[in-house]
Amino acid sequence: MAGFLAGSPWLRSQLRSQQDPFRDHSRIPGLNELVTVFDFEPVAYAKVPRYNYDYTAYGTDSEFTLRRNREAFDWVELIPNRVLDISPIRTATEILGTKMDFPIMVSPSAGHTMLHPDGELATCQGAAAASNTPYIVSNNSSFPFEKIAAAAKAPLWFQLYPKLELDDNRDVLDRVQAAGARAVVVTIDQQAAQYERILHDRNLTTRPPATRRAAPKNPYRLQESRLFYTWKLLEQIRGVCKVPMLAKGILTAEDAKQCLECGLDGVYVSNHGGRSLDYSPATLEVLPEIVDAVGGKVPVIFDSGVRRGTDALKALALGARAVCLGRVPRWGLGAYGAPGVQRILEILQAELVRGMAYTGRPTLASIDRTIVRTDFP
Ligand code: FNR
Repeated sequence: MAGFLAGSPWLRSQLRSQQDPFRDHSRIPGLNELVTVFDFEPVAYAKVPRYNYDYTAYGTDSEFTLRRNREAFDWVELIPNRVLDISPIRTATEILGTKMDFPIMVSPSAGHTMLHPDGELATCQGAAAASNTPYIVSNNSSFPFEKIAAAAKAPLWFQLYPKLELDDNRDVLDRVQAAGARAVVVTIDQQAAQYERILHDRNLTTRPPATRRAAPKNPYRLQESRLFYTWKLLEQIRGVCKVPMLAKGILTAEDAKQCLECGLDGVYVSNHGGRSLDYSPATLEVLPEIVDAVGGKVPVIFDSGVRRGTDALKALALGARAVCLGRVPRWGLGAYGAPGVQRILEILQAELVRGMAYTGRPTLASIDRTIVRTDFP
Protein backbone atom coordinates (compact mmCIF):
# COMPACT_ATOMS: atom_id res chain seq x y z
CA MET A 1 0.00 0.00 0.00
CA ALA A 2 2.80 2.40 0.96
CA GLY A 3 4.50 1.66 -2.32
CA PHE A 4 1.27 2.24 -4.22
CA LEU A 5 0.73 5.58 -2.49
CA ALA A 6 4.30 6.65 -3.15
CA GLY A 7 3.77 5.83 -6.81
CA SER A 8 0.45 7.66 -7.12
CA PRO A 9 0.64 11.42 -6.65
CA TRP A 10 -2.98 11.73 -7.79
CA LEU A 11 -4.28 9.30 -5.15
CA ARG A 12 -2.13 10.93 -2.50
CA SER A 13 -3.53 14.36 -3.35
CA GLN A 14 -7.09 12.95 -3.29
CA LEU A 15 -6.58 11.51 0.17
CA ARG A 16 -5.05 14.73 1.38
CA SER A 17 -7.83 16.88 0.00
CA GLN A 18 -10.45 14.85 1.83
CA GLN A 19 -8.95 15.93 5.11
CA ASP A 20 -8.44 19.47 3.98
CA PRO A 21 -11.33 21.78 4.84
CA PHE A 22 -10.26 24.23 2.12
CA ARG A 23 -10.13 21.59 -0.62
CA ASP A 24 -9.27 23.77 -3.61
CA HIS A 25 -6.87 26.11 -1.87
CA SER A 26 -4.89 24.64 0.94
CA ARG A 27 -3.51 27.91 2.33
CA ILE A 28 -5.04 29.79 5.25
CA PRO A 29 -6.77 32.88 3.79
CA GLY A 30 -5.89 36.32 5.08
CA LEU A 31 -8.37 37.96 7.44
CA ASN A 32 -9.40 40.54 4.84
CA GLU A 33 -10.34 37.79 2.38
CA LEU A 34 -13.21 36.59 4.56
CA VAL A 35 -16.56 38.10 3.73
CA THR A 36 -19.17 36.45 5.95
CA VAL A 37 -18.93 34.95 9.41
CA PHE A 38 -19.45 31.51 7.88
CA ASP A 39 -16.03 31.84 6.20
CA PHE A 40 -14.37 31.79 9.62
CA GLU A 41 -15.55 28.35 10.70
CA PRO A 42 -13.38 26.30 8.32
CA VAL A 43 -10.36 28.44 9.21
CA ALA A 44 -10.97 27.79 12.91
CA TYR A 45 -11.48 24.11 12.10
CA ALA A 46 -8.14 24.00 10.34
CA LYS A 47 -6.29 25.80 13.10
CA VAL A 48 -7.51 24.28 16.38
CA PRO A 49 -7.24 20.66 17.57
CA ARG A 50 -10.17 18.48 16.56
CA TYR A 51 -11.41 18.00 20.12
CA ASN A 52 -11.50 21.75 20.68
CA TYR A 53 -13.33 22.33 17.40
CA ASP A 54 -15.86 19.63 18.27
CA TYR A 55 -16.45 21.16 21.68
CA THR A 56 -17.54 24.39 19.98
CA ALA A 57 -19.54 22.74 17.21
CA TYR A 58 -21.59 20.07 18.90
CA GLY A 59 -25.27 20.18 19.80
CA THR A 60 -27.09 17.80 22.14
CA ASP A 61 -28.12 14.29 21.01
CA SER A 62 -29.31 14.29 17.38
CA GLU A 63 -28.60 18.01 17.00
CA PHE A 64 -32.19 18.70 15.91
CA THR A 65 -32.41 21.94 17.86
CA LEU A 66 -28.97 23.00 16.65
CA ARG A 67 -30.19 22.71 13.04
CA ARG A 68 -33.64 24.15 13.77
CA ASN A 69 -32.08 27.30 15.27
CA ARG A 70 -30.72 28.08 11.82
CA GLU A 71 -33.74 26.83 9.91
CA ALA A 72 -36.06 29.13 11.86
CA PHE A 73 -34.44 32.18 10.27
CA ASP A 74 -35.54 30.82 6.87
CA TRP A 75 -39.16 30.93 8.05
CA VAL A 76 -39.02 34.69 8.56
CA GLU A 77 -38.97 36.99 5.54
CA LEU A 78 -37.96 40.62 5.64
CA ILE A 79 -40.20 43.11 3.87
CA PRO A 80 -38.22 45.64 1.84
CA ASN A 81 -39.17 49.28 1.93
CA ARG A 82 -37.95 51.34 -1.00
CA VAL A 83 -36.95 54.95 -1.45
CA LEU A 84 -37.21 56.25 2.06
CA ASP A 85 -34.97 58.88 3.53
CA ILE A 86 -33.26 56.74 6.10
CA SER A 87 -29.94 58.47 6.66
CA PRO A 88 -28.30 58.46 9.07
CA ILE A 89 -28.93 54.97 10.47
CA ARG A 90 -28.64 54.86 14.24
CA THR A 91 -27.96 51.61 16.06
CA ALA A 92 -26.83 52.74 19.51
CA THR A 93 -28.85 51.59 22.50
CA GLU A 94 -28.69 51.06 26.25
CA ILE A 95 -29.75 47.87 28.01
CA LEU A 96 -29.91 47.65 31.81
CA GLY A 97 -27.54 50.57 32.12
CA THR A 98 -24.99 49.27 29.59
CA LYS A 99 -24.52 51.50 26.57
CA MET A 100 -23.73 49.82 23.26
CA ASP A 101 -23.20 51.06 19.73
CA PHE A 102 -25.05 48.08 18.27
CA PRO A 103 -27.68 45.76 19.80
CA ILE A 104 -25.19 42.91 19.47
CA MET A 105 -23.31 41.31 22.36
CA VAL A 106 -20.99 38.33 22.91
CA SER A 107 -22.72 35.35 24.61
CA PRO A 108 -21.00 33.64 27.50
CA SER A 109 -19.02 30.60 26.39
CA ALA A 110 -16.54 28.46 28.25
CA GLY A 111 -12.82 27.87 27.88
CA HIS A 112 -11.54 30.29 25.25
CA THR A 113 -7.93 29.12 25.63
CA MET A 114 -9.07 25.99 23.78
CA LEU A 115 -9.22 28.25 20.74
CA HIS A 116 -6.36 30.69 21.30
CA PRO A 117 -3.64 30.96 23.95
CA ASP A 118 -4.88 34.42 24.97
CA GLY A 119 -8.41 33.06 25.45
CA GLU A 120 -10.93 35.50 26.90
CA LEU A 121 -8.29 38.25 27.01
CA ALA A 122 -8.23 38.16 23.22
CA THR A 123 -12.02 37.90 23.03
CA CYS A 124 -12.55 41.02 25.10
CA GLN A 125 -9.83 42.84 23.16
CA GLY A 126 -11.54 41.97 19.86
CA ALA A 127 -14.98 42.85 21.23
CA ALA A 128 -13.76 46.23 22.48
CA ALA A 129 -12.12 46.97 19.12
CA ALA A 130 -15.47 46.36 17.41
CA SER A 131 -17.25 49.48 18.72
CA ASN A 132 -17.02 48.50 22.39
CA THR A 133 -19.17 45.40 22.07
CA PRO A 134 -20.31 44.21 25.53
CA TYR A 135 -19.05 40.75 26.42
CA ILE A 136 -20.73 38.30 28.84
CA VAL A 137 -17.91 36.35 30.50
CA SER A 138 -18.68 32.70 31.23
CA ASN A 139 -18.60 31.22 34.72
CA ASN A 140 -16.30 28.65 33.10
CA SER A 141 -13.85 31.06 31.53
CA SER A 142 -10.22 30.01 31.16
CA PHE A 143 -9.00 33.09 33.06
CA PRO A 144 -10.48 34.51 36.30
CA PHE A 145 -13.04 37.26 35.77
CA GLU A 146 -10.76 39.76 37.57
CA LYS A 147 -7.96 39.19 35.09
CA ILE A 148 -10.27 39.61 32.11
CA ALA A 149 -11.82 42.72 33.68
CA ALA A 150 -8.39 44.25 34.28
CA ALA A 151 -7.68 43.94 30.55
CA ALA A 152 -11.17 44.91 29.36
CA LYS A 153 -11.92 48.20 27.63
CA ALA A 154 -15.56 47.41 26.82
CA PRO A 155 -18.38 46.60 29.28
CA LEU A 156 -18.42 43.13 30.81
CA TRP A 157 -21.34 41.16 32.19
CA PHE A 158 -20.88 37.94 34.13
CA GLN A 159 -22.65 34.61 33.59
CA LEU A 160 -23.29 32.42 36.64
CA TYR A 161 -24.03 28.73 36.87
CA PRO A 162 -25.90 28.73 40.20
CA LYS A 163 -24.46 26.77 43.07
CA LEU A 164 -26.59 24.97 45.64
CA GLU A 165 -25.59 27.13 48.60
CA LEU A 166 -26.62 30.78 48.51
CA ASP A 167 -23.38 31.81 50.25
CA ASP A 168 -21.34 30.24 47.47
CA ASN A 169 -23.30 32.24 44.90
CA ARG A 170 -22.85 35.36 46.99
CA ASP A 171 -19.08 34.87 47.13
CA VAL A 172 -18.77 34.61 43.36
CA LEU A 173 -21.13 37.53 42.75
CA ASP A 174 -19.38 39.80 45.27
CA ARG A 175 -16.08 39.05 43.60
CA VAL A 176 -17.20 39.73 40.02
CA GLN A 177 -19.24 42.80 40.89
CA ALA A 178 -16.25 44.26 42.72
CA ALA A 179 -14.21 43.61 39.57
CA GLY A 180 -16.72 45.51 37.44
CA ALA A 181 -19.43 43.14 36.16
CA ARG A 182 -22.30 45.40 35.10
CA ALA A 183 -24.98 42.71 35.00
CA VAL A 184 -25.32 39.05 35.92
CA VAL A 185 -26.78 36.40 33.63
CA VAL A 186 -27.85 33.25 35.46
CA THR A 187 -27.92 30.27 33.12
CA ILE A 188 -30.67 27.79 34.00
CA ASP A 189 -30.76 25.43 31.02
CA GLN A 190 -27.86 23.09 31.75
CA GLN A 191 -29.12 20.80 34.50
CA ALA A 192 -28.26 17.56 32.76
CA ALA A 193 -25.61 18.25 30.16
CA GLN A 194 -24.37 15.34 28.10
CA TYR A 195 -21.76 15.90 25.44
CA GLU A 196 -21.95 12.95 23.08
CA ARG A 197 -19.44 14.15 20.52
CA ILE A 198 -16.99 14.65 23.32
CA LEU A 199 -17.60 11.18 24.67
CA HIS A 200 -16.88 9.83 21.19
CA ASP A 201 -13.73 11.88 21.03
CA ARG A 202 -12.72 10.59 24.42
CA ASN A 203 -13.23 7.04 23.31
CA LEU A 204 -11.18 7.74 20.22
CA THR A 205 -8.54 9.21 22.55
CA THR A 206 -8.27 12.53 20.77
CA ARG A 207 -8.61 14.34 24.09
CA PRO A 208 -5.50 14.77 26.22
CA PRO A 209 -5.85 12.31 29.14
CA ALA A 210 -5.13 14.93 31.81
CA THR A 211 -8.39 16.81 31.16
CA ARG A 212 -10.73 13.78 31.10
CA ARG A 213 -13.64 14.00 33.49
CA ALA A 214 -14.85 10.90 35.33
CA ALA A 215 -18.22 9.58 34.20
CA PRO A 216 -21.08 10.16 36.66
CA LYS A 217 -21.74 7.23 39.00
CA ASN A 218 -25.51 6.86 38.44
CA PRO A 219 -26.65 4.39 35.78
CA TYR A 220 -28.14 7.15 33.60
CA ARG A 221 -24.80 8.91 33.04
CA LEU A 222 -26.52 12.06 34.27
CA GLN A 223 -24.25 14.83 35.53
CA GLU A 224 -25.53 15.44 39.05
CA SER A 225 -24.02 18.81 39.74
CA ARG A 226 -26.99 20.98 38.66
CA LEU A 227 -30.23 19.20 39.47
CA PHE A 228 -31.22 21.52 42.30
CA TYR A 229 -32.40 24.63 40.42
CA THR A 230 -35.61 26.23 41.77
CA TRP A 231 -37.25 29.60 41.17
CA LYS A 232 -36.84 30.18 44.90
CA LEU A 233 -33.07 29.91 44.52
CA LEU A 234 -33.16 32.39 41.65
CA GLU A 235 -35.13 34.81 43.80
CA GLN A 236 -32.56 34.43 46.57
CA ILE A 237 -29.68 35.02 44.16
CA ARG A 238 -31.51 38.14 42.92
CA GLY A 239 -31.52 39.30 46.54
CA VAL A 240 -27.73 39.15 46.85
CA CYS A 241 -27.00 40.63 43.42
CA LYS A 242 -26.51 44.40 43.32
CA VAL A 243 -26.38 44.83 39.54
CA PRO A 244 -29.22 43.89 37.14
CA MET A 245 -29.82 40.16 36.81
CA LEU A 246 -31.27 38.10 33.95
CA ALA A 247 -32.12 34.41 33.56
CA LYS A 248 -30.66 32.72 30.46
CA GLY A 249 -32.32 29.73 28.81
CA ILE A 250 -35.94 30.92 28.74
CA LEU A 251 -38.06 29.24 26.04
CA THR A 252 -41.65 29.61 27.27
CA ALA A 253 -44.03 32.41 28.20
CA GLU A 254 -44.59 30.71 31.59
CA ASP A 255 -40.91 30.80 32.48
CA ALA A 256 -40.64 34.39 31.29
CA LYS A 257 -43.47 35.33 33.67
CA GLN A 258 -41.69 33.46 36.48
CA CYS A 259 -38.63 35.64 35.82
CA LEU A 260 -40.79 38.72 36.38
CA GLU A 261 -42.23 37.24 39.56
CA CYS A 262 -38.73 36.57 40.88
CA GLY A 263 -37.91 40.24 40.35
CA LEU A 264 -35.41 39.65 37.56
CA ASP A 265 -34.41 42.60 35.41
CA GLY A 266 -34.30 40.84 32.07
CA VAL A 267 -35.18 37.68 30.17
CA TYR A 268 -32.58 35.95 28.01
CA VAL A 269 -34.17 33.70 25.37
CA SER A 270 -31.76 30.89 24.56
CA ASN A 271 -31.54 27.14 24.04
CA HIS A 272 -27.78 27.24 24.61
CA GLY A 273 -27.18 27.05 20.87
CA GLY A 274 -28.84 23.63 20.69
CA ARG A 275 -26.78 22.34 23.61
CA SER A 276 -29.56 22.00 26.15
CA LEU A 277 -32.63 19.76 25.59
CA ASP A 278 -32.64 18.41 22.04
CA TYR A 279 -36.00 18.81 20.26
CA SER A 280 -36.71 21.97 22.21
CA PRO A 281 -37.88 24.72 19.84
CA ALA A 282 -35.74 27.18 17.96
CA THR A 283 -35.42 30.41 19.90
CA LEU A 284 -36.78 32.53 17.04
CA GLU A 285 -40.04 30.53 17.03
CA VAL A 286 -40.76 31.18 20.71
CA LEU A 287 -39.46 34.74 20.84
CA PRO A 288 -42.81 36.43 19.95
CA GLU A 289 -44.79 34.65 22.70
CA ILE A 290 -42.11 35.47 25.27
CA VAL A 291 -42.01 39.11 24.22
CA ASP A 292 -45.80 39.24 24.52
CA ALA A 293 -45.70 37.63 27.98
CA VAL A 294 -43.06 40.08 29.21
CA GLY A 295 -45.10 42.99 27.85
CA GLY A 296 -42.21 45.46 27.78
CA LYS A 297 -41.66 45.28 31.54
CA VAL A 298 -38.05 44.15 31.17
CA PRO A 299 -35.73 43.79 28.17
CA VAL A 300 -35.67 40.49 26.29
CA ILE A 301 -32.34 39.48 24.84
CA PHE A 302 -31.83 36.62 22.43
CA ASP A 303 -29.34 34.07 21.18
CA SER A 304 -28.97 30.73 19.41
CA GLY A 305 -28.35 30.55 15.69
CA VAL A 306 -27.48 34.17 14.91
CA ARG A 307 -25.00 34.22 12.01
CA ARG A 308 -26.10 37.23 9.93
CA GLY A 309 -27.00 40.86 10.48
CA THR A 310 -30.39 40.01 8.96
CA ASP A 311 -30.82 37.32 11.63
CA ALA A 312 -30.27 40.03 14.23
CA LEU A 313 -32.77 42.29 12.43
CA LYS A 314 -35.41 39.52 12.45
CA ALA A 315 -34.95 38.94 16.19
CA LEU A 316 -35.18 42.69 16.84
CA ALA A 317 -38.33 42.85 14.71
CA LEU A 318 -39.87 40.07 16.81
CA GLY A 319 -39.17 42.02 19.97
CA ALA A 320 -35.63 41.27 21.18
CA ARG A 321 -33.72 44.29 22.47
CA ALA A 322 -30.34 42.75 21.55
CA VAL A 323 -28.90 39.55 20.13
CA CYS A 324 -25.90 37.66 21.44
CA LEU A 325 -23.39 35.52 19.56
CA GLY A 326 -22.05 32.23 20.91
CA ARG A 327 -20.14 30.22 18.31
CA VAL A 328 -19.50 33.11 15.92
CA PRO A 329 -16.87 34.92 18.04
CA ARG A 330 -15.35 31.54 18.90
CA TRP A 331 -14.75 30.95 15.19
CA GLY A 332 -13.14 34.38 14.94
CA LEU A 333 -10.97 33.69 17.97
CA GLY A 334 -9.88 30.24 16.82
CA ALA A 335 -9.16 31.48 13.31
CA TYR A 336 -7.31 34.76 13.96
CA GLY A 337 -7.34 35.63 17.68
CA ALA A 338 -8.51 39.10 18.75
CA PRO A 339 -8.58 40.54 15.19
CA GLY A 340 -10.83 37.63 14.17
CA VAL A 341 -13.29 38.41 16.97
CA GLN A 342 -13.27 42.07 15.96
CA ARG A 343 -13.81 41.32 12.29
CA ILE A 344 -16.62 38.88 12.86
CA LEU A 345 -18.51 41.43 14.97
CA GLU A 346 -17.91 44.19 12.42
CA ILE A 347 -19.32 41.99 9.65
CA LEU A 348 -22.50 41.40 11.67
CA GLN A 349 -22.78 45.09 12.53
CA ALA A 350 -22.43 46.12 8.87
CA GLU A 351 -24.98 43.53 7.78
CA LEU A 352 -27.45 44.79 10.38
CA VAL A 353 -27.07 48.35 9.11
CA ARG A 354 -27.62 47.15 5.53
CA GLY A 355 -30.76 45.28 6.62
CA MET A 356 -32.07 48.40 8.35
CA ALA A 357 -31.46 50.41 5.19
CA TYR A 358 -33.30 47.94 2.96
CA THR A 359 -36.28 47.71 5.30
CA GLY A 360 -36.41 51.48 5.68
CA ARG A 361 -35.80 51.53 9.44
CA PRO A 362 -33.25 54.16 10.43
CA THR A 363 -33.56 53.61 14.19
CA LEU A 364 -33.90 50.62 16.48
CA ALA A 365 -37.18 52.06 17.75
CA SER A 366 -38.63 51.95 14.23
CA ILE A 367 -37.93 48.20 13.85
CA ASP A 368 -41.16 46.32 14.54
CA ARG A 369 -43.11 43.26 13.46
CA THR A 370 -44.35 44.94 10.28
CA ILE A 371 -40.97 44.37 8.61
CA VAL A 372 -41.24 40.59 8.88
CA ARG A 373 -43.55 37.92 7.51
CA THR A 374 -43.31 34.75 9.61
CA ASP A 375 -44.18 31.27 8.44
CA PHE A 376 -43.33 29.06 11.40
CA PRO A 377 -44.69 25.49 10.95
C1 FNR B 1 -21.78 27.86 25.20
N1 FNR B 1 -22.81 28.48 25.90
C2 FNR B 1 -22.62 28.78 27.24
N2 FNR B 1 -23.60 29.43 27.90
C3 FNR B 1 -23.43 29.77 29.20
O1 FNR B 1 -24.32 30.37 29.79
N3 FNR B 1 -22.25 29.46 29.84
C4 FNR B 1 -21.23 28.80 29.24
O2 FNR B 1 -20.18 28.55 29.82
C5 FNR B 1 -21.43 28.41 27.88
N4 FNR B 1 -20.46 27.74 27.20
C6 FNR B 1 -20.60 27.48 25.88
C7 FNR B 1 -19.57 26.87 25.18
C8 FNR B 1 -19.69 26.68 23.82
C9 FNR B 1 -18.59 26.03 23.07
C10 FNR B 1 -20.85 27.10 23.13
C11 FNR B 1 -20.99 26.93 21.64
C12 FNR B 1 -21.88 27.68 23.83
C13 FNR B 1 -24.05 28.88 25.21
C14 FNR B 1 -23.92 30.28 24.64
O3 FNR B 1 -23.94 31.24 25.65
C15 FNR B 1 -25.06 30.61 23.69
O4 FNR B 1 -26.28 30.44 24.34
C16 FNR B 1 -25.08 29.80 22.39
O5 FNR B 1 -23.78 29.55 21.92
C17 FNR B 1 -25.85 30.56 21.35
O6 FNR B 1 -25.95 29.86 20.17
P1 FNR B 1 -25.00 30.12 18.91
O7 FNR B 1 -24.82 31.61 18.77
O8 FNR B 1 -23.72 29.41 19.19
O9 FNR B 1 -25.76 29.50 17.78
